[in-house]
Formats: sequence, C-alpha cells, structure tokens
Amino acid sequence: EKNGFAHFMLKEIHEQPRALRDTLKGRLAGDDSAVVLKELEIDDQKLRSLRKIFITACGTAYHAGLVGKYVIEQLARVPVEVDIASEFRYRQPLIDEDTLVIVISQSGETADTLAALREARRLGAPVLAVTNVVDSSIAREADHVLYTWAGPEIAVASTKAYTTQLVAMYLIALHLAAVRGTITLEERRAIIKELKQLDSRAELILGNGHLIKDLARIYGRAEDVFFIGRGLDHAVALEGSLKLKEISYIHAEAYAAGELKHGTLALIEKGVPVVALATQKNLFEKTLSNIKEVKARDATVIALAMEGQKELEKVADHVLYIPPTNPVLAPVLAVIPLQLLAYQMAVVRGCDVDQPRNLAKSVTVE
Ligand code: BG6
Repeated sequence: EKNGFAHFMLKEIHEQPRALRDTLKGRLAGDDSAVVLKELEIDDQKLRSLRKIFITACGTAYHAGLVGKYVIEQLARVPVEVDIASEFRYRQPLIDEDTLVIVISQSGETADTLAALREARRLGAPVLAVTNVVDSSIAREADHVLYTWAGPEIAVASTKAYTTQLVAMYLIALHLAAVRGTITLEERRAIIKELKQLDSRAELILGNGHLIKDLARIYGRAEDVFFIGRGLDHAVALEGSLKLKEISYIHAEAYAAGELKHGTLALIEKGVPVVALATQKNLFEKTLSNIKEVKARDATVIALAMEGQKELEKVADHVLYIPPTNPVLAPVLAVIPLQLLAYQMAVVRGCDVDQPRNLAKSVTVE
C-alpha cells in the first residue's frame, strides 16, 4: 500500500500533484475567469458585508491558516485573524454576525478545533470548515464545508493535506475577491492560470528530490536548524520547522527574517544550518540582507528561491530553486523541498518517520 515508497510520508509527498489537481477539480469556471464554490452557500450580499474573518486550527492546519490570512487579506481586503484552536476557544473572541469563522482540520476530529467551531457557532458566526474527511465531526457540525481531496493521509506528519488546504485558501480568497470586487478579472485569471499549473510544477520539484537527499547526508546530524523568511515565506518557514521537529527531533526554530536580529541571532554560530526562504519578489532584497547577516556569523545557508535569483549563489552555501509562479502561490511549491528535507533528515537519523514518538495523527482529547 506504500506503492513502492519506503514510508507513507514519502508516498504522500509524491501524491501532491494529484491531490492539488483533485482539490481544484470542478471548482474553476471553464474559461478560468472564476472560482465556483457550490459548497459555500453564503449569499454574495453577506460576503460583501463581512467585516472580519477568523481562521482557527491546530498544528499544520494552523500554518495553512497563516497563509490563508495573508492571501485573503491581500486579495479580498478583509481583515483576518488566525488563532490556534486551543487559544481561540478560551479567549472570548470578538465575533458578531458580520464575522466568518473558518476552521481547518485534516481529520475533522481534532478536539480543540471542534470546540472552537462550537464556540464560534454559539457566538452566532457562520462556520466554514476546510477538512479532508467526508462526514467527520467537524464537517457535520459546520454550516458550510469545503473538502480538500488529498485522499487518506496515513503518516502523522501532514504533507498533502497541508498543500490542499492551501489550495482551499486560494479558492476562498479568489471567490471573496470576486464578490467584493477587490481584484480585476485579469488579475483573477492570471492567478487561476497559475493555480492550474501548480501540479506540474510540484512534479518538477519532486523530480529533483536527490538534491535534498544530498543535503540531508551533509546536515542530518545538526543539532539546531533555523528557518527564516518574510511574508508568506515566514508562514512556510514555520511549517518547514515543524516538519523537521516532528519527525527528525532536531531542534528547529522559524523566525520572520527581519526579527532574528531582535531575537536569537546570538544562537547563529559557525556551521548552524539556516534555511532561508526568498521566494517573494517584493521582499527579496530585504531577505537577502538577512541572509548576509547570518552569513556574517558563519552560518551555513540553504536558500530556497524561485528560478532566476542567481544572486543568491554568491551568498548562500546551497540554493534550491522552485519553478517560477505567482508569488501568492509560492507556498505550495516552497514547502515541498522542506517536506523532503525533514523526511530525508529523519531517515538519516534512523527515526520512525511515519510514527514519530509522542504524536498522534488525530488528537481527540483536549
Ligand atoms: C496533530 C497532528 O496532533 O494535529 C498534526 O500530529 C496535525 O500533524 C494537527 O497538523 C491538526 O490535525 P487536524 O486533523 O485537525 O488537521
């Protein structure tokens, strides 16, 4: 059932092109001009009057929510707050009828997320669930459900569920943006066109997996790894860091690239691997100067950028490239090398990749 792959996690990483395609299927208008979300039965008037969106989730799904915030705010111009479900439910969130609450949960059974959903509904907000499991508790209790079609995810560390959750975030953001008139038809078409090509671009990245295996051989024994990035790259850095911690037990920290010097730059010493994400064109120069900051402390930098950013090769020790795409969509591609890096590092260290210690796939207790 592992289809010839050594672990479920590796199999699921490789299933992403198919999962991305399936999650888009039937949700785009024939001429690529619009997103069709039959599942979201909120009328357009209501979507136009929304004043706030809350996204709440746990773990990797929370990281998908961080990308969702950025994308919804940028495209649909609605303020979005993202909260960890176990925090949201106890902090008396300021919710009214002009608030939409989006809960994200691969399993649809996470106790904290389910409790957050119930709290949101109690406060009178409509709840939209993004989940991968049909008829799960969260799917049943939400007002609206947008399914991700990742297929069953067996490995505890979430991979294809995360990238399909990102697709769900793009679909929601594009739909809201269309209804609220915050982006032009041309802009929408351009993003949708790129969205449809994510599967083949993901395929290209997977085809270069051996480069990451080589890196894991060099750095697999590291004690600490830092991940830095700005904007959407920061959200992906958090997910890359979590993946590494979850399955390889290496201590990892993700920092907004500009914040490192206000925090733990002192921990960057000779040879400490720093994975630096620089996929966002408008932030590239800023991230580049942060890379120089860590290089000045003799860190080893593994940079991740879109093809064409040759400048990085002069500064970083290694550069991994993703195929060019619209910067808002970059997280779907950027996370794949990080998933593979976490996987290969865990393999080098002889860890039980699919069943990491102390973690469960679905946590149905508080
Ligand atoms: C954790 C899992 O306990 O639950 C994570 O180990 C997962 O991988 C998190 O991201 C949230 O799960 P779900 O099913 O609500 O997305």
